[in-house]
Amino acid sequence: RIENHLRPQLLEDYIGQAKAKEMLKIYIEAAKARGEALDHLLFYGPPGLGKTTLAGIIANEMNVNMKITSGPAIEKPGEMAAILNNLQEGDVLFVDEIHRLNRQVEEVLYPAMEDYAIDIMIGKGASARSIRLDLPKFTLVGATTRAGMLTAPLRDRFGVVTRMEYYTVEELKMIILRSAKVLEVGIDENGAYAMARRSRGTPRLANRLLKRVRDFAQVKYDGYITEEVADYALDLLDVDKEGLDQTDRGILLAMIGKFGGGPVGLETLAASIGEDPGTIEDVYEPYLLKNGFIQRTPRGRVVTDAAYAHLGICKENE
Ligand code: ADE
Repeated sequence: RIENHLRPQLLEDYIGQAKAKEMLKIYIEAAKARGEALDHLLFYGPPGLGKTTLAGIIANEMNVNMKITSGPAIEKPGEMAAILNNLQEGDVLFVDEIHRLNRQVEEVLYPAMEDYAIDIMIGKGASARSIRLDLPKFTLVGATTRAGMLTAPLRDRFGVVTRMEYYTVEELKMIILRSAKVLEVGIDENGAYAMARRSRGTPRLANRLLKRVRDFAQVKYDGYITEEVADYALDLLDVDKEGLDQTDRGILLAMIGKFGGGPVGLETLAASIGEDPGTIEDVYEPYLLKNGFIQRTPRGRVVTDAAYAHLGICKENE
C-alpha cells in the first residue's frame, strides 16, 4: 500500500497514459473474472511517469497486496526466493530498476514467472539435486528506465510490455488541479497551465513543483496560485518556460560551447559536464529528444536550431 496521497488509487482516477490504461482495464477485468493472477507486466520509460503508481493501482483493483523491492536491493538468489515464497495468492511484486538484478537473482525469476515455482539445490557434489518449491500465483510488475538493458529471457517472460509516455501539458494541468485539491491549495486555470508547461512532461515533477509553488504562494502572496505566482516561483527554481532545468540547459550549452553544436558522443558529453552517461541517456536525453532540442545521428548527438533559439544563442556559420 502506497502512502503518497497524491497518487490515485483507482484506474479511473489515473490521468494520462491512455493506451496503457485502456489495455490494463481489460486485462484486469479478464483476470478477475477468471479468478486468476494478472499476467506479468513490464513498464519502461523515463523516471517519474507513474510506473509505481500504476503498479499500486493494479494491486488495488485486483484486491491484492503489493510488495515493493528493487533490482539493486536484492543481492542473493536466496533473498529473491524468500520474497517470492512470502507472497500471498495473487499478490503484486513490484521490482523497480529491474534491469539491475544480478544474473543469479534473475535466474530465480525464470521458473517463478513461468511456472510459479523455484528450484532449490540441496546437497553437494555427486549427491546434489534440486527440489521444486511451488509458489503462490503472483504478478511480477517490473519497472525500468531501459528496456534495452533487460536480458532476452527476462523480457520474454513478461506477458505485457508497456512504454510509458511523457504527459501532455493538458494532462499535467489536470494532475496539478487534482493534486491542488488534495493539498487544499487554491489555484486557477492559468496558474495550473503555467505550471504544467514547466513540468517536463512528468507528473512527479509537477507534484513536486506544486508543493514548492504553494510555499511561495503562502509566504509571498495570499496563498492562492495564479500564473504570476507560478512564474515567479518557477523562475526562482530555475525551471524555464519549456520545463528545462539546469542540467538540461547545461547539456545543451556544453554541446554548443564545447562541441560546436555536435555531433558529440554520449561519453564525451557526459565527461565534459561531470554527469553519468546512463543518467543523461535515461533521464535527460529522452525529454530533449522528444521536444526537438537535440537529435541523434550515427556520429553522435547534435543540437537543433530550436535549442539555439530557446537559449537565445546565435548559431555561428561554418
Ligand atoms: N498523480 C501522479 N500521477 C498521476 C496520474 N497519472 N494521474 C493522476 N494523478 C497523478
